[in-house]
Amino acid sequence: MGFKIPRGTQDILPGKVELWQYIEEKARELCKRYNYLEIRTPIFEQTELFQRGVGDTTDIVQKEMYTFEDRGGRSLTLRPEGTASTVRSYVENKMFGQPEQPVKLYYIGPMFRYERPQSGRMRQFVQFGVEALGSNDPAVDAEVIALAMDFYKELGLKSLKLYINSLGDKESREAHRQALIEHFKPRIGEFCSDCQNRLDKNPLRILDCKKDRDHELMQNAPSILDYLNEESEAFFNKVKQNLDTMGIDYVVDDRLVRGLDYYNHTAFEIMSEAEGFGAITTLSGGGRYNGLVEEIGGPATPGIGFALSIERLIMALEAEQVTLPFETGIDCYLVSMGDAAKQKATGLLYELRKAEITADTDYLDRKLKTQFKAADRLDAKYVAILGENELDNNVINVKDMEKGEQQEVPIDEFIDYMKQKTREA
Ligand code: HAM
Repeated sequence: MGFKIPRGTQDILPGKVELWQYIEEKARELCKRYNYLEIRTPIFEQTELFQRGVGDTTDIVQKEMYTFEDRGGRSLTLRPEGTASTVRSYVENKMFGQPEQPVKLYYIGPMFRYERPQSGRMRQFVQFGVEALGSNDPAVDAEVIALAMDFYKELGLKSLKLYINSLGDKESREAHRQALIEHFKPRIGEFCSDCQNRLDKNPLRILDCKKDRDHELMQNAPSILDYLNEESEAFFNKVKQNLDTMGIDYVVDDRLVRGLDYYNHTAFEIMSEAEGFGAITTLSGGGRYNGLVEEIGGPATPGIGFALSIERLIMALEAEQVTLPFETGIDCYLVSMGDAAKQKATGLLYELRKAEITADTDYLDRKLKTQFKAADRLDAKYVAILGENELDNNVINVKDMEKGEQQEVPIDEFIDYMKQKTREA
């Protein structure tokens, strides 16, 4: 019997992992430019953190969490997202007391949701996310959105669309909530059981229902934008002004409802419009969550962030046929023939690597020709040949595989020669 990888997960093998490394490097570099610092939190947390943070009525908490009891009888959950953990750490480490505010953090790591796997929907996926905690300036909302858009654009994506909405403050949301209940209540029996459950607990989520999307009551449901109080409207206008100033295009979508409970004011999603991207077109999502820090036991602190999955990003890169300029291959493959040459090659290989030159050799006692084939497969820029003749003459033959030229180099000078050659490249 063989073993199989769990459903909804994937192995990222050499050949593909270089793309992941390149993307992750880009994310780190961009965060540095925007002055967001990395935070690493555990893969699992107390279950209650997500129940409180993400929200009891969300799909994530109701049916998608990987929850287990440890040997000490504690209920733990594999993190389904990064915001709750980041906020937990912010509170626990009293980052609200740091002199420099807002605290701007980012993370890259695996998240887990028990969802029905399909293209772009995994049970383990990697999120890159940022969170800015401690400022209620709408310019930070715009900064977070700009960072997300820049990331995609700098990787070469073109078919992007940014949707934004405002969910308003508590007062606006309450007014909208009442309007939604009044709107749906008389005919709630025509909706799915999820929506019926949502009516009292979280009627906003009815607007996000996939099953009842086409029901006529959905079309004329009250718009949150009509219920924003003055302050919320002014805040939303500022966010839009800031995006305009940066020249970032957006579409206001009053139906944009995020699947997590903690949002207020700004909510946004970035979609791919690339042909052949697939059914799920959301690349990333985020928004403001001014009550979350308090909910998790900290002082009232505003926050905003977003997250995206690398899996969906890679799907978009493939749909738009973007090729990224990451390096593969090695600098030097050392071919040796005969015991004495092989012994010498071991030392030279070690020296090459110490000199920061990527290098490899044959470990299967293969014939000269097969060693050359291996060098080809590894895409070696140079092949260095050390046979008995070369060894007798204290030289090594270095072949530039691109130019097809061969040069005899004294063994003593070989490392310096390779250093120079690889530096030139
Ligand atoms: P979310 O909308 O649940 O928000 O997820 C954000 C992104 O994670 C999605 O847009 C998508 O790219 C990716 N994603 C989610 N589920 C899956 C899946 N099953 N397979 C592949 N990719 C997936 C959050 O998680 C919030 N924490 C975002 C946030 C940060 N809001 C404020 N700060």
